[in-house]
Amino acid sequence: MGHPVLGQKAEAITDLADPELRRLVEDMVETMIDANGAGLAAPQVHESIRLVIFQAPANRRDPGLSEAEAYDHTAPLTVLVNPVFEVLSPEREGGWEGCLSVPGLRGWVERPAHIRYRGMGLDGKPIERVAKGFHARVVQHECDHLDGILYPQRMSDLTKLIFESETKHWLEPKE
Ligand code: NI
Repeated sequence: MGHPVLGQKAEAITDLADPELRRLVEDMVETMIDANGAGLAAPQVHESIRLVIFQAPANRRDPGLSEAEAYDHTAPLTVLVNPVFEVLSPEREGGWEGCLSVPGLRGWVERPAHIRYRGMGLDGKPIERVAKGFHARVVQHECDHLDGILYPQRMSDLTKLIFESETKHWLEPKE
């Protein structure tokens, strides 16, 4: 946090055949998994281009959901080039977020709970999905990175910007 690249608007990707792109994605996947993160955006590794990776595994979703409801809440490891999203309903949801660019902290962030996103895979094929819950959150968090926004800038209550070591004091409210 504070490096100028994290505050910039990233550039659209025009050449998917660039071998550097593949290497970058491999590095990003490794970094994300090493850090036990759910997502990473290219500006976080100082590449100001519109590329994000993320996953929304089943163990991050609300356990109270039926299998049918849970479908939009999960996503496999996804590489998304030039992503865009639209908000599908006015409902907002709060959740704790962390970020590899804001180490050691967690913040309570309210975001739209239901979105549709689009982009391309590294193979150039279009990807379009509806997302809810943690899945919707991680996609919005990563897309924010492409516009130079870190999650603390999305917070409305900075008393809920806390150290990771203090998360035990903050149980998530039940819906
Ligand atoms: Ni982040």
